Amino acid sequence: MITATFNSASGGTELVQLEPGVSIMKAAILNGVGNIVGECGGQAMCATCHVIVRPEYRGQLPPIGEDEDEMLDCAATARTEGSRLGCQLKAGEHFSAIAVDLPETQ
Ligand code: FES
Repeated sequence: MITATFNSASGGTELVQLEPGVSIMKAAILNGVGNIVGECGGQAMCATCHVIVRPEYRGQLPPIGEDEDEMLDCAATARTEGSRLGCQLKAGEHFSAIAVDLPETQ
């Protein structure tokens, strides 16, 4: 199992176990993590799965794709250096462990 740590804007922390191939967005929704919406179902078309990856976990991730880059510019909370779309990051394929901060709004 692969662990994702979600840090909410209000200070709470939730740990979620992911099967390989499951995205951060899907894992958050399946486990009731607040403030991840995933409106488009993971098609990189909504930016309601915006997460900010903690610095120590960024190096293992693939580069931001063109669609992801465009959508992050449309996120409800301004993107920062660690911003990614949670639907584009999959356990096992892209990370073996990860910690993300959740923006205040999606
Ligand atoms: S779920 Fe829509 S962009 Fe990720």
